[in-house]
Amino acid sequence: MSATIIAPSLLAADFANLQRDIEMVNNSEADWFHIDVMDGVFVPNISYGMPVVKAIGKHAKKPLDVHLMIVDPDRYIKDFAELGAAVLTVHYEACTHLHRTLQAIKAEGMKAGVAINPHTPVSLLEEVIKDIDVVLIMSVNPGFGGQKFIENTYKKIQQLKEMILNNNAETLIEVDGGVNAGNAPSLVEAGADALVAGNFVFSSEDPIQTIGNLKEVTV
Ligand code: DX5
Ligand code: ZN
Repeated sequence: MSATIIAPSLLAADFANLQRDIEMVNNSEADWFHIDVMDGVFVPNISYGMPVVKAIGKHAKKPLDVHLMIVDPDRYIKDFAELGAAVLTVHYEACTHLHRTLQAIKAEGMKAGVAINPHTPVSLLEEVIKDIDVVLIMSVNPGFGGQKFIENTYKKIQQLKEMILNNNAETLIEVDGGVNAGNAPSLVEAGADALVAGNFVFSSEDPIQTIGNLKEVTV
């Protein structure tokens, strides 16, 4: 079993010191930059868009894991490929033709991710699981950092793990929302391969150490 992927969410970074916070992640044991793009329509919040993602990409030395919380994400697949996204994740709830969207993401050379809201059952992914590189299980309702972890997530991770094994798929399971050192070991035990952490990392006294601790508890 390989070590868990740790993806700090820049939504919790200090936007007035973004370069400093990006360098911190560069110098830490983190694996990916998690980048939350919100449109104020799919979720009740607006975060940041292309110019900021471009600026992040200029300094980030690790893969960009872009989480699109937007309606009709197909319109922007090419743009995010050009901005250097390594993983492009769209929401199941925002895609009418998910199979087509997944192929379009992969055709641009990116890994294809699908995020599911807390109310969305994992069983809805069964027919496309082999086409998905990463499933992002939302463990809070998307839109804001710093929310409380939803306990039902463990069950969803286990169900998804079973589906992946049954289908001989190579899909990674990523968990997003309310992740901390307390729940990280149980999430990994349930089957999570990647953990997103925003406030837990950036509000801590020593974020590099906090990332290191997360990495350690999940080996
Ligand atoms: C929520 C975002 C998360 C968020 C996580 O809509 O998708 O990535 O930044 O933040 P924390 O870890 O603070 O819950
Ligand atoms: Zn996210």
